[in-house]
Amino acid sequence: MKILLVGSGGREHALALGLKADPSTTELHCAPGNPGIADLALLHPLDIKNNAAIVALAKELLIDLVVIGPEVPLVNGASDALRSAGFAVFGPSKAAAQLEGSKDFAKGVMRDAGVPTAHSYTCTTKEEIEKALDEFGAPYVVKDDGLAAGKGVVVTIDREVALAHALSCTRVLIEEYLNGPEISLFGISDGRNIIAMQPAQDFKRALDGDLGPNTGGMGAYSPLPWAPDDIIEDTYTQVLAPVIAEMAARGTPFIGLLYAGLALTDHGIRVIEFNARFGDPETQVLIPLLKTPLATLLYKAATNALDDVALQWREESAVTVVLAAGGYPESPQTGSVILNIPNVKETLTFHAGTTRSTAGLVSSGGRVLSVTGVGEDLTEARDRAYRAISQITLPGSFYRTDIALNASVAEKGN
Ligand code: AMP
Ligand code: GLY
Repeated sequence: MKILLVGSGGREHALALGLKADPSTTELHCAPGNPGIADLALLHPLDIKNNAAIVALAKELLIDLVVIGPEVPLVNGASDALRSAGFAVFGPSKAAAQLEGSKDFAKGVMRDAGVPTAHSYTCTTKEEIEKALDEFGAPYVVKDDGLAAGKGVVVTIDREVALAHALSCTRVLIEEYLNGPEISLFGISDGRNIIAMQPAQDFKRALDGDLGPNTGGMGAYSPLPWAPDDIIEDTYTQVLAPVIAEMAARGTPFIGLLYAGLALTDHGIRVIEFNARFGDPETQVLIPLLKTPLATLLYKAATNALDDVALQWREESAVTVVLAAGGYPESPQTGSVILNIPNVKETLTFHAGTTRSTAGLVSSGGRVLSVTGVGEDLTEARDRAYRAISQITLPGSFYRTDIALNASVAEKGN
């Protein structure tokens, strides 16, 4: 099978690793890719916002399966353009990607499907905004309706700050504050069936102790030894299956990766958000643990053939730590030389914001690398990830030192 993977981040590097390892993959292409992915796939230049260019590349390469990593081409209808041209695609249509593209749309689907989520109001006027803020009270949760590259959500006890953010959005959701640990649980769907992956936890704040600004994600780990035993089954029954059924009933089946961001509250699971694609950096811990051949799995999803598929996992743990450029997330410094890519047993270094120049490997984005350690438990996985990441030299860069720390301490008590 000839595969084209679209994207260029750490998530795509991890997906490339999984796709390449499947014996049914005969050729792996990636566009535009990055220097890490170049070791696994043939790279092609591509403007991922240009659907016609994606279709042209798939035709030129005689591709059997296209896997789309990031949300932007999905929300832009790349899957529709590819499907119209006859390609098997892992990635939802433009209509189905609205689960990520519009928070108001996602709320409507959850309401119709009976999926538990925070109560919310969608507002367009100052009057509506103030009424909603005062009804819910502090802490205030204010969400831009549209895609905002991780910058759309403000959670604050300061009413002025909440109001100012709400007024800066054209359409905004004001919602009830959810209390409880957050997890990411992904389902792989062919539009009729959905198969839940094991859960992961992501660290969204820039600094240790969950301080600092929100980011795309500074680290992740899986599995979650502290999570309730029935978390996968509960999420399947209460969230994943009803959403897939609702999308199919609306005539816009969701084919691809449904990312459920969940809060585990005292009253049960509540959906915080959906994404229409694999999470970054959660993918960098899930793919190294997944035993099921990835290319075959995603091809089955793309061709309506997931009946009777069950996932197999390694009985190990994985921890990934993101190396971020100085100034991330506000104004990351780029163009610095990266030295000493580690070579530590049972670790993987995924490229995210890197490029090759005459100076060698240089940083080109906010999240530069993510280093995953795999081990028999979280403590061993974490030790390996941190031993490896501490070897890397990149001036001004930083990483959190507490990824999976609490969970690894707690697992010792079990
Ligand atoms: P999102 O972009 O929707 O994932 O939101 C970013 C972060 O804001 C989430 O990871 C949560 O930590 C926080 N957040 C979003 N919605 C809520 C909510 N209803 N209650 C509490 N925290 C929330
Ligand atoms: N890790 C959060 C995301 O991928 O949106």
